Amino acid sequence: MKQHAPPIGAAADPFPLAPAAVPGAPLASVDTPALLLDLAAFERNLDRMQAAADAAGVQLRPHAKAHKTPAVALAQLARGAVGICCQKASEAIPFVQAGVADIHVSNQLAAPAKAQLLAQLARRARISVCVDDATQVRALAGAAQAAGSELGVFVEIDVGQGRCGVADADAVLRLVEQIAQHPQLGFRGLQAYHGGVQHLRAHAERRSRARQAAERTGQVVATLAQAGVACATVTGGGSGSVEFDLASGVYTEVQPGSYAFMDRDYGDNEYAGALRFEHALFLATTVMSAASGTHVVADAGLKSLAVDSGLPAIWQQDAPSGTLRYAEANDEHGIIQAIGGAALPPLGSVLQLVPGHCDPSFNLHDELVGFRGGVVESIWPISARGLSR
Ligand SMILES: Cc1ncc(COP(=O)(O)O)c(C=O)c1O
Repeated sequence: MKQHAPPIGAAADPFPLAPAAVPGAPLASVDTPALLLDLAAFERNLDRMQAAADAAGVQLRPHAKAHKTPAVALAQLARGAVGICCQKASEAIPFVQAGVADIHVSNQLAAPAKAQLLAQLARRARISVCVDDATQVRALAGAAQAAGSELGVFVEIDVGQGRCGVADADAVLRLVEQIAQHPQLGFRGLQAYHGGVQHLRAHAERRSRARQAAERTGQVVATLAQAGVACATVTGGGSGSVEFDLASGVYTEVQPGSYAFMDRDYGDNEYAGALRFEHALFLATTVMSAASGTHVVADAGLKSLAVDSGLPAIWQQDAPSGTLRYAEANDEHGIIQAIGGAALPPLGSVLQLVPGHCDPSFNLHDELVGFRGGVVESIWPISARGLSR
């Protein structure tokens, strides 16, 4: 289990570091870099997704790999989510500790130690996991038997991403037979997730590719039904495909994660339908050097922001088309330039960035600072940060 070092500033420590943020304090007083959550926008995002899932009669199981923060999962469950997804066995630990009762690990595990951890967690919560090979089935069965627990099992099918998952219904049937040999395992259905669809920019292209994935999934479900195997749950989908997955008639459960935050990359998608979400996640950064005159330097670089999906946008409500550009990320420096002769922000000013990719950005921070109306309201631990085993 993750151990936190004693807080800096404890009695024996001669170098007290004040907390980055305190509930009730003005947002402007937050020490940077700090990961911020606009609670009003976040809550609207949660409400919108839950309402869409309810209207479609599809279960919502939001992905917690997007945020790694138990308080976020609890807010989703309070609105009607049936459970959450995690991507790793260890990632599930703080969520089980926080009282999340139903977790699907939307991924495969190979090492026996991970199966053992899941089987232990299954003594406290309803746990399921994906397989695409009989070896995984045997490892899960052995671990569940030893722990005296039960594990749900989903067979993952590859619906075009070319990542994990078996190719066809015959392969699913062979695994279902294997699963049926172990009373401590229960076949729950299929996982069919297509990551390649999520960030296709054009709405029409996302719709057509998501449809293809759903059709392929529907064919596998039908073939299994002819063989007498029922799929109680068909789970999949992400924030970029969810509107199509909800309408597909194939998915009984969706697992989007980023919709709650809307990073820059998802913001760059084209949304034609009603189901759109707001930027709710920001990184506060302070201009710490304005010496050059051609650019300024902010205190957030690669150690506070993930740039695998591109650089962050600068949130400028007063200038939506943007007069500033985050041009380059060094370890602890962010180079900010002005566009078209606009003024550079002065030394000491605080900017809010929209991270390029929310999942790995969360993984760089210990705390999520929630604010409303310019005031800090909550400080939520990002407890699963670093839990990648
Ligand atoms: C298996 C699985 N399900 C769901 C998601 C959805 O994530 P998001 O909505 O954040 O794109 C992902 C993201 O990579 C995933 O790998």
